[in-house]
Amino acid sequence: MQIIIINGPNLNLVGEREPDIYGVIGFDQYIPVLQAKFPDHTISYFQSNVEGELINQLHASRKEADAIVLNAGAYTHTSLAIGDAVASLQIPVIEVHMSNVFAREEIRHHSFISKYAKAVVCGMGLQSYEMAIRFLTASV
Ligand code: DQA
Repeated sequence: MQIIIINGPNLNLVGEREPDIYGVIGFDQYIPVLQAKFPDHTISYFQSNVEGELINQLHASRKEADAIVLNAGAYTHTSLAIGDAVASLQIPVIEVHMSNVFAREEIRHHSFISKYAKAVVCGMGLQSYEMAIRFLTASV
């Protein structure tokens, strides 16, 4: 499978940003580790802090990928446009969050994406991504 991870705003700073919530390992370090766990599949990575760029990448991924693992960061809770983009896709989208958004401020409890996601994983740190890919690539 060709799987793309799409990360939204501020996730480029994981590793430095609020380490008590997001840990001390960044995606530069983690993506090769993740790829090594799934040698039969190809994992690509895209991150942007810009809402429209995330939407453009979601559109492009419908032709380039078999599935999307999406952490839209704070746009999860604010962006009707990203929700609409996900709704328009035929390929599966797994919504992920590193933190348990339901244990945080109430504004983080609502997602514009969940309704259109095949599954939602949250609260497992970087392992949320691994769990999403494990689900997508499972043959059962
Ligand atoms: C996040 C949770 C969001 O509420 C937050 O705005 C983020 C990261 C997570 O991975 O836990 O930027 O999506």
